[in-house]
Amino acid sequence: MAKDIAGLDRLSKEAADLFRRDSQVIAGIEKLRFFPVVVEGGEGATLFEAGGRKLIDFSATWTAAGLGYGHPRVTEAITRAAKNPGGMGLSIANSSAIAFAEELLAITPGGPDRKVYIGHAGSDACDVALRGVRFNSSKRKIVAFEHSYHGGIGLSMSVSGVHVDTGATEPDSDTIFVSYPNPYRPPIDDPTPEGATKASLAQIEAAFRGGEVACIIVEPILDDGGLVVPPKGFLAEIEKLCHSYNVIMICDEVKVGLGRPGLLHAFAHDGVTPDIVCFGKAIGNGFPLSAAVGPTELLNGPTAAALLTTAGNPVSAEVGRAVIRTLIEDDIPARTKAAGELMRRLFAELDSPYIGDIRGYGLVTGVELVSDRESKQIAKSLTAATIYRAFELGLCVFSVGPNVLEITPPMIISDELIERGVSIIGQAIEDAASGRVDPEAVAAFSGW
Ligand SMILES: Cc1ncc(COP(=O)(O)O)c(C=O)c1O
Repeated sequence: MAKDIAGLDRLSKEAADLFRRDSQVIAGIEKLRFFPVVVEGGEGATLFEAGGRKLIDFSATWTAAGLGYGHPRVTEAITRAAKNPGGMGLSIANSSAIAFAEELLAITPGGPDRKVYIGHAGSDACDVALRGVRFNSSKRKIVAFEHSYHGGIGLSMSVSGVHVDTGATEPDSDTIFVSYPNPYRPPIDDPTPEGATKASLAQIEAAFRGGEVACIIVEPILDDGGLVVPPKGFLAEIEKLCHSYNVIMICDEVKVGLGRPGLLHAFAHDGVTPDIVCFGKAIGNGFPLSAAVGPTELLNGPTAAALLTTAGNPVSAEVGRAVIRTLIEDDIPARTKAAGELMRRLFAELDSPYIGDIRGYGLVTGVELVSDRESKQIAKSLTAATIYRAFELGLCVFSVGPNVLEITPPMIISDELIERGVSIIGQAIEDAASGRVDPEAVAAFSGW
């Protein structure tokens, strides 16, 4: 008999059985797992594990469940649109997609002549933004960042530093990768946040100077690359360079945009107006919906070059409308601002010797784990064990980079769940550091 997956004996029988079935039938190529979780439902910021245990969710499934699980307005929109769908895609124009595009344009700053590409996932939104620029420009080169993430298909994948790092794809041959400024780990020759920004901007300008760069694609926080929050003003400096060298600025808001950053848009922290903005995850509250908003001249053709048959279907579009309405009417950015401040204060109060850095804004928080604060040595296995232990204690949290806890709960999470969740992580770090987590069980889940 084949050896069982380590750690399943600690789960309920229902959860363990489902997890074994999952491993029999669902392709590994689309999995990134940190512990053997199987859920059967969810409400707000809580997930219901098979077998009945409740889990606090500090992941929002990589921020996709922005408004949490089973949000009443989202549920109402899905039900209404599914009962009376106006077609199932954009070859038959439908009122829901039109209204969604109008409403998204209204909340996204930019020029008067813009269009909305409606897609299914952050990956295709970024891919189409990049392709749209290339189709419509005499220039071909792209500037992207080392350790960035823009998607798992086509060009979005081959400009993603994270994929290039793992060898999952060849880098796009016309893409120049530059460093992203990391204030916690600045360059040796000028170890300050300003030094980190300067080094990065110098690389960007050197690339632009060649005159062949059509666009730059940037995340407002380098999230999957380790939740790196750049020094204030970094995006504004990029925008200036883009204007000077006539380069299109694409801002990838897929992971941290739309209410989560304590403002409606993360790029608004730097007061910039990118040429193209990509949205995903929270825009559909986890349902298949994404968008790229940008100049008509870049997104209007060639005809059908980015046609996905069911993109713009009315069910997804109505979900997007419900999300936008909720963000505005419930003033979600004000809530994420206050909740994020509480979150970071509570992490600071843990005063763990293994927490090297706590960073972020709104409800995006990175907690970087190190062997000690002095050396800042990356604590990769401690991070994996902490996440696994947190799951055992009743919390879902993921990591990015080798050693950063990505704390991105649904934006509607209560203060009480924030307090309980941070306390679980504090306990998990202690347990992991004192060897109370089974290494074999942790090793069964490779994470990144
Ligand atoms: C910044 C960013 N862009 C794009 C994507 C791709 O989104 P999706 O996985 O929904 O295709 C991701 C996914 O993690 C992301 O973090």
